[in-house]
Amino acid sequence: MTVQVFDSDLALAEALATEVIDAVARRPDTVLGLPTGRTPLALYEAIIRRTRRGSVDWSRVRTFNLDEFVGLPPGHPGSYRAFMEARFFRPLGIEPAQVGFLDGGARDLEAECRRYEAAIVEAGGIDILVLGIGVNGHIGFNEPGASLQARTHRVALEERTRAANALWFDGDIARVPTAALSMGMATILAARTIVLVATGEEKAAAVRGMLEGPLTTWLPASFLQLHATAAVMLDREAAAGLSAASAPALS
Ligand code: F6R
Repeated sequence: MTVQVFDSDLALAEALATEVIDAVARRPDTVLGLPTGRTPLALYEAIIRRTRRGSVDWSRVRTFNLDEFVGLPPGHPGSYRAFMEARFFRPLGIEPAQVGFLDGGARDLEAECRRYEAAIVEAGGIDILVLGIGVNGHIGFNEPGASLQARTHRVALEERTRAANALWFDGDIARVPTAALSMGMATILAARTIVLVATGEEKAAAVRGMLEGPLTTWLPASFLQLHATAAVMLDREAAAGLSAASAPALS
């Protein structure tokens, strides 16, 4: 995996925004895989700012988000769909027809997971997948455990993951759903380009395990070591736990 360390999360966001916008300029029908959460906020803001200044054409892009909570009614402000509509799709004029999203309110969740896998294949696969990482090393909602699932599936959320998501529910962990749907490890690893972003000191241990530890289902992000070209973009704080061998100089 290639590792880049940036002076700040904003410098990181600007660099990744450039990569995404350049990719869309080269190939307007790029298929993007996208995360929610705190980490991509600066990236999405940078992309929106640049789009307003320049002439990026988002009209042919397709998107697939990594995950969605189970059991929230459509349009619920805590849903990842609502997050993406407000912070990425609407500001960029990305239409619902361009958006692939898991429906956590589907009656048959297994059928919904199969539909999603088929939709990604039908779109030609994911060209660029942006990932965040949980403090427990999860990617998407592939939580640490004795085993991992290959394909899109239903997950029971760890307490730590629910606590980290409480901010989208007015800080009330009791309101955070206990389950989610998530792309699986093989769905993630099939992306042509993967960029994992981590910022802040609370991610340092997970980042170190991902880059320097063994492949283990107890730290799902370690499986990115299997991807031929996965790139990792870190701020100084998230890189703080790395040994000199894997921590490059500042970008
Ligand atoms: C969310 C997702 C999660 C987050 C991770 C980090 O769509 O895929 O894996 O990327 O939980 O969340 P933040 O960025 O809030 O620290």
